[in-house]
This record gives sequence, structure tokens and C-alpha cells, in this order.
Amino acid sequence: MSIETVAVRLGDRTYDILIGAGLVARAGEEIAGRLPGVRVAIVTDTNVAAPHLARLVASLDGNGVASTVITLPPGEKTKSFDALQQVVDGILAARLERGDAVIALGGGVIGDLAGFASGIVRRGMRFVQMPTSLLAQVDSSVGGKTGINSAHGKNLVGVFHQPQLVLADTEVLNTLPEREFRAGYAEVAKYGLIDRPDFFAWLEGNWQEIFAGGAARTRAIAESCRAKADVVARDEYETGDRALLNLGHTFGHALEAATGYDSGRLVHGEGVAIGMALAHRFSSRLNLCSMDDALRVEAHLNAVGLPWRMSDIPGGLPDAERLLAYIAQDKKVTRGALTFILTHGVGKAFIARDVPSSEVLAFLKENLPG
Ligand SMILES: NC(=O)c1ccc[n+]([C@@H]2O[C@H](COP(=O)([O-])OP(=O)(O)OC[C@H]3O[C@@H](n4cnc5c(N)ncnc54)[C@H](O)[C@@H]3O)[C@@H](O)[C@H]2O)c1
Ligand SMILES: [Zn+2]
Repeated sequence: MSIETVAVRLGDRTYDILIGAGLVARAGEEIAGRLPGVRVAIVTDTNVAAPHLARLVASLDGNGVASTVITLPPGEKTKSFDALQQVVDGILAARLERGDAVIALGGGVIGDLAGFASGIVRRGMRFVQMPTSLLAQVDSSVGGKTGINSAHGKNLVGVFHQPQLVLADTEVLNTLPEREFRAGYAEVAKYGLIDRPDFFAWLEGNWQEIFAGGAARTRAIAESCRAKADVVARDEYETGDRALLNLGHTFGHALEAATGYDSGRLVHGEGVAIGMALAHRFSSRLNLCSMDDALRVEAHLNAVGLPWRMSDIPGGLPDAERLLAYIAQDKKVTRGALTFILTHGVGKAFIARDVPSSEVLAFLKENLPG
């Protein structure tokens, strides 16, 4: 089985992302080779621990890497101050030092939480990401954003803290619920839609192989990591270009908020899928992008089984005014103008900083069901 390597180029903090089958079983070797003498704390959740933790611990043991394990309940609620304290105390109780490492074995929730803990314990420990959801492999494990939620909102407390290594085992995705895999795929498609039209065309022809596993899956994840790594290398702290990664997220976040973050109704990637379709349709309404391109995006999302219109969300939605208020909450409104990621077509997204909220409102009214 071949392993692909993608470098995230950040000067002396440059690190590798390894992508391929069997990397959990090879983790001990990779970590011992790159971080000699390191001891580790593995942070994981119960869903991931059951099928994958023993393999990781055995691999570390076999390569002389001592480990301690901190297991948390699954779900977004785990990105909390309580869980952070549990992780920090666990790391300190194991007497790990600054040169030792925290390993995040899990989806984006575990990656964000463990990454944050590694960024603050002893003013910053080493960190290894072992993402186990598709979303985490193509998005959250790359780029160094870490953090937890506050009562005031999602991801409001955290630090930028880059890992030393990312190990994305494509086989662990076989235990991921299908709905989570599909939701993560929305972020894969996003990279094609931002600035990789050839990648999007390849996805249209090969998505079934990606879902099935094997070489196409590895290639799709590697290309997504390359896309994100490029943007992060250009704009690590999101002062400019990195905002392009928010394609589909302005509408998506508003829909997540409007459905009360009820994952039964809508998970993040599904919100992003609908958001991307809306961003193309909205761009077409503003005469920035052709309707053909908007229809092409909708057709692909529909083909893979992702929701792509607001009426695909079960249960009712608030009216257009209320949705606009959620959008305005998500993005800072400057004198009636909003920042959106819009597009000139497939693979031609751009940052638009002056979208009149009246246009957004009219568009929402046209597209809300009923
Ligand atoms: N840091 C960033 O740049 C960044 C980017 C995007 C998203 N995020 C964050 O990522 C989080 C979402 O990540 P997510 O979608 O991975 O959610 P998640 O971590 O909650 O994982 C989704 C579900 O799948 C389970 N799971 C994960 N891997 C599994 C596996 N291999 N087998 C069986 N079950 C498995 C989890 O236990 C959970 O129930 C959000 O908190 C979001 O804010 C961060
Ligand atoms: Zn996202």
C-alpha cells in the first residue's frame, strides 16, 4: 500500500501529512523515528477508541514509545472547558514534559481539543494529529487552528498551534458512519470548487471509488490536504486568502444555527453542501457565475447523496429575515454590507467584501421552501 506525503510549508515549523492505509499500525515507527525519545498522551473518544485504540497503543509499545490514554465522550459538547481541564490534568498527571507529545486520535472535536491542550500545557508541547473522520483528514487536522467552544459561540477560545506530524490512515474511515463520511466529502468537493476545477471534474467521475476506499480515496484526501496546505502556507493566521476556505460556510453556519445545531437534522458538512450550492446560485443571480455552473454543482452534490437545497433539511426553517440575522451574526456586518465567498464559476471562488444584505435577503426569500 502506498503512502502519500504532503508537506505543510511553514519555514522551520514545516511538517508532513502522511496519507494512506495502515498508518495507525505504523504510527509507532513514524513517531519514534521523527521524535526520538518522546513520550505521548493519546486523546481520543469512545467511538474511535473501540475499533482503533488498541492498534495504536500496540504500535507505540512495539517502538518503545510510552503512552497514557485520555478517553472522552464523543460529540461537539466535548469541546468544552471541562473536557479541556480533564485533558490538561491527564497530561500533567502522566508527567509529560514540553518535548513530549499529545496525539489526537479522533475527528475534528478531539483534534481541536487535544491540539488546544498541547498548545497551552507547559506553554506548548509537541502535537501529532491522527484524524479519523474524513472531515478531520481533509480539513481540521491541517493548518494549526485549535480550540473549544464557549457559551458565547463555537471555536471562540483557542490558539494557533501547528502539529509536528499528521498521520491520516484512510482505512480507519471504514468504521465512520456513512453520513459522517458523506458530510466530510462536502469539504473535499469544496477544494475543487475554490480553485481546482480539474479536481472537481475528477471528483464528478470518481466519487464512487472514493467512497469505496482504496487508491482513489487516498488521492482525494491527499489533493485536499495539498489544497488546504497551500492556502495555510500563504496565510497561516487568516488575514486574507485563508477566508476562501469558508466557501459555503456563511450560508452553512446560518443553517446550522437555524436548526439549533441539531445533528439529527443537519451536520456541518451537510450545511456546507447546501451553502456551496447556494453560494453558486447566489453568484449566478448576481451575474457573476453562469447558471450552468450552479446546476453542475447541485447535480454533483445530489449524485453523492448530499443535501443541496434548504428544502432538503427536515423540519421547518425560520423566515428569510431570521436567516439573514444568523448570517449577520456569523459575519461582521459593516454598514449593511456582508463578506461572502462568491464565485465566477467552478474553481473560481473569490472573497467579496461588499455584498449588500438586501441582495442576500431577496435571494433567501426566493430560495426558501414554501
Ligand atoms: N481546526 C480546524 O481548522 C477545523 C476545521 C473544520 C472543522 N473543525 C471542527 O471539527 C469538528 C467536527 O469534526 P468531525 O466532523 O470530525 O466531528 P467529530 O469529531 O464529532 O466526529 C464525528 C463523529 O464520528 C465519530 N468518529 C470519528 N472517527 C470515527 C471512526 N474512524 N470510526 C467511527 N466513528 C468515528 C466521532 O466519535 C463522532 O461521533 C467541529 O468541532 C469543528 O468546529 C475544525
Ligand atoms: Zn467546514
